[in-house]
Amino acid sequence: MADKIRILIVDDLPETRENVRKLLQFESDVEVIAQAGNGEQAIEMAKKHVPDVILMDINMPGIDGIGACQRITQAVPVSQIIIMSVQSESDYLRRAMLAGARDFLTKPMSGEELITAIRRVYNSRPKVSPIAPQSFTGPQTPGTVAAAPQIRQGKVIAVYSPKGGIGCTTIATNLAVALAQQDKETLIIDGSLQFGDVAVMLNMRPTTSIVDLIERVSDLDPDLVSSVVLKHKSGAKALLAPTRPEMAELVTTEHIEPLISRLRLMYEYIIIDTASALTPITLAWLDTADKVCLIANQGLPSLTNASRYFDLAGQLGYEMGKVLLVINEANPKRGISIKDVSDTLKRPVFITIPTDGPTVEMAIDQGVPIVIGNLQRRPSGVALTEMAEKVIDLFKVVAPKEEAKDDKKRSGLSRLFGR
Ligand SMILES: Nc1ncnc2c1ncn2[C@@H]1O[C@H](COP(=O)(O)OP(=O)(O)OP(=O)(O)O)[C@@H](O)[C@H]1O
Ligand SMILES: [Mg+2]
Repeated sequence: MADKIRILIVDDLPETRENVRKLLQFESDVEVIAQAGNGEQAIEMAKKHVPDVILMDINMPGIDGIGACQRITQAVPVSQIIIMSVQSESDYLRRAMLAGARDFLTKPMSGEELITAIRRVYNSRPKVSPIAPQSFTGPQTPGTVAAAPQIRQGKVIAVYSPKGGIGCTTIATNLAVALAQQDKETLIIDGSLQFGDVAVMLNMRPTTSIVDLIERVSDLDPDLVSSVVLKHKSGAKALLAPTRPEMAELVTTEHIEPLISRLRLMYEYIIIDTASALTPITLAWLDTADKVCLIANQGLPSLTNASRYFDLAGQLGYEMGKVLLVINEANPKRGISIKDVSDTLKRPVFITIPTDGPTVEMAIDQGVPIVIGNLQRRPSGVALTEMAEKVIDLFKVVAPKEEAKDDKKRSGLSRLFGR
């Protein structure tokens, strides 16, 4: 039998620790190896025992659960922390997540909830070594034998903005289409699982969705993937969001990394359109991406939120170059110039997409990408086409050695819950 998942229980109330222990005592794949009654003890025991999963109370005397979380994440990053809180402590949850917790449970929890969360965070923990490529080297016809060398490692770009309605879907869809136009095998994923707009923007009928892949995420094969992704007339493939918002719940953070690592073997570029709310799923998409295109405009709210996001990216341990600043709806007449934005955020601007309301609206209304047909000569079409070229160049200039280093680094990232 595989090794058991080693658990540390942290709670200042001995009864709670005992209750939790009892809930787990008949689970054959877990073992409670230690208990701690406060934050200091938790840190000490985490360092000593290096548990796989730590069940952490928030409210404790001395160093509380959040403080302990922060220190353990730094000192023992392999330990995955699940916060146990009572409903009234929900305000702390976000802080706990930022401190490195992977998941949370509301007390009192059932044995089923507890064991499911433990297995989930354990199974989705970052692996120390890069994931070994599995069965295929790219799209194949049934019956062909996978050739050993030349394993494809597609590039993953997430398009994100902490503020909604700023142009993420417009940019993600057009970037994917523009890459496909350049004969790159490209997949766009609608990562905004509840209310995604990729299907609408690309004028595609969502007959299948990501939900059709996640059940078999651990043994995805090219045939299954091809039967689920939909083909856009540009050549780009699309993995759409489910049509009913409640179905989004079927996709959990633990699906994201295995899904992407397998899709990387099939596509040269994977573009992920993400929702603005920093939910565990959004964080998982951003974490797994090689690059995050952070979309901002020259407005003060956007600038403030972009600045916060850069801070968060730092806390998450993203290397500086992972997040690319993209200015959308650029307008030379605005009080805050593009240079002001770049200076304030202390980041270079990767690309500037001009404000081009009539074109963008026409494209959305007609379900036609800006980067194909007549619209591509419009200012936004030119910029979005250039963006695709820059993306291609970006990955070209990374020397193979450096790239491998980055990959290794990325596998040890994931500072927030689940992925
Ligand atoms: N370059 C641009 N110039 C003018 N208007 C633009 C530009 N880019 C996007 N827009 C407008 O912004 C609106 C929002 O675009 P889009 O849906 O792509 O944003 P989003 O960030 O994905 O929004 P959501 O948060 O709803 O997912 C659209 O109505 C579009 O017309
Ligand atoms: Mg959108």
